[in-house]
Amino acid sequence: MSRQAYRAALLHMLDDPARTPAADAWAYHPDGLLVVEDGHVAAFGAHADLAPTLGADVAVTELPGRLITPGFVDAHVHYPQVDVIAAWGTQLLDWLATHTFPAEQAFADRAHADAVAQVFLDQLLANGTTSALAFCTVHRTSADALFEAALARNMRLIAGKVLMDSNAPAGLTDTVEGGRADTEALIRTWRGRGRLGYAVTPRFAVTSSDEQLAMAGEVLAAHPEALLHTHMSENPAEIAEVSRRFPQDRDYLAVYERHGLVGRRSVFAHCVHATDDAFGRLAAAGASAAFCPSSNLLLGSGLFSLRRACRCGVNTALGTDVGGGGSFSLLAMMGEAYKVGQLLGDNLDPLHAFYLGTLAGARALRIDDKVGNLLPGKEADFVVLDLAATPLLARRTRSAGTLAETLFILCVLADDRAVERTYLAGRPAHVRGGA
Ligand code: GUN
Ligand code: ZN
Repeated sequence: MSRQAYRAALLHMLDDPARTPAADAWAYHPDGLLVVEDGHVAAFGAHADLAPTLGADVAVTELPGRLITPGFVDAHVHYPQVDVIAAWGTQLLDWLATHTFPAEQAFADRAHADAVAQVFLDQLLANGTTSALAFCTVHRTSADALFEAALARNMRLIAGKVLMDSNAPAGLTDTVEGGRADTEALIRTWRGRGRLGYAVTPRFAVTSSDEQLAMAGEVLAAHPEALLHTHMSENPAEIAEVSRRFPQDRDYLAVYERHGLVGRRSVFAHCVHATDDAFGRLAAAGASAAFCPSSNLLLGSGLFSLRRACRCGVNTALGTDVGGGGSFSLLAMMGEAYKVGQLLGDNLDPLHAFYLGTLAGARALRIDDKVGNLLPGKEADFVVLDLAATPLLARRTRSAGTLAETLFILCVLADDRAVERTYLAGRPAHVRGGA
């Protein structure tokens, strides 16, 4: 692939702004140039500095009024739940039984899984999400369908077949040995292909036996490149059920700890009701939390304290948790995270929110050496945001005085209409309006 250059405002994060002085936490160029070569970032900087270094043969795509950022990272999402978004009236355990488990049963049919996988990836890309950590269903072929579709698009995507051998309807359960065999077969089949990764995915401690969680720990230990992806401490009734099932463990996290599931490759969705002690143990283990504000509000799960998680040192990223969450947009999640913070007396800084949706997600997924920002050498996964995508966005961003103001306006007002283009490894993977 030849060199490509894009002139626009550029923003990416270099570190966590809650822990790092501003000058070292991000780079912003109001008139910037992004240079891409062979699917990787060749240069990211001020147009005035970089333009003279470009060869005469390099065409520059001029993008006035646009902001280029790294592609967003969704640290927790369920691809089979596309069709349960916006289900009315229930909280977690009822919602699973009433809406989610019936929808997931349809994934026994490979053709259905293939079709939904395409819709799911279309939605990610239309919203500027270039990497995700995704649940499939219990069916091995549901994971085959998603991996095949993501490979064809060259997406950096991590997913896993769900493990659940207890407390779920017939047709949605596996067994200890069946779950092990399917997980091992999927890792063997998809390892090293494109930009795919595998996550060992016990659904949560409510639907796995001790024996199955122990098996998940063994598989994780045997595959040092795999992640562990599960749910934890989302809802009071769920937490009560876990303490009823595992009375010997001092809290929810202890169930996972006992089976070797808590380490630097582990991502725990929600953690809404985690104590400081549990957060401290997550931090000490180097594990990550996925904060899913839209889902936590829609399912009435509770208010995740980002300030407390940060104070305890937990790497925290953002997840849409579709279909519990009501949007595929990480920009919308940043806005929802701000609203949750407001209810807790915290004002989430827009640059911190932007960090959560980009570099923090890449760190949680252990892919930050490849994506998460646009440093030279990284894979060129990026989005072109149109600051005037709607009349209201145009009006508000025009009057914004600072970068933080512009970002906050995007967090509150933007949706997929603001995502003009999404690039995967330097190639357009989504163009708004399909042009
Ligand atoms: N806990 C266990 N399964 C699920 C799920 O599908 N969605 C959410 N939000 N929480 C869960
Ligand atoms: Zn979830």
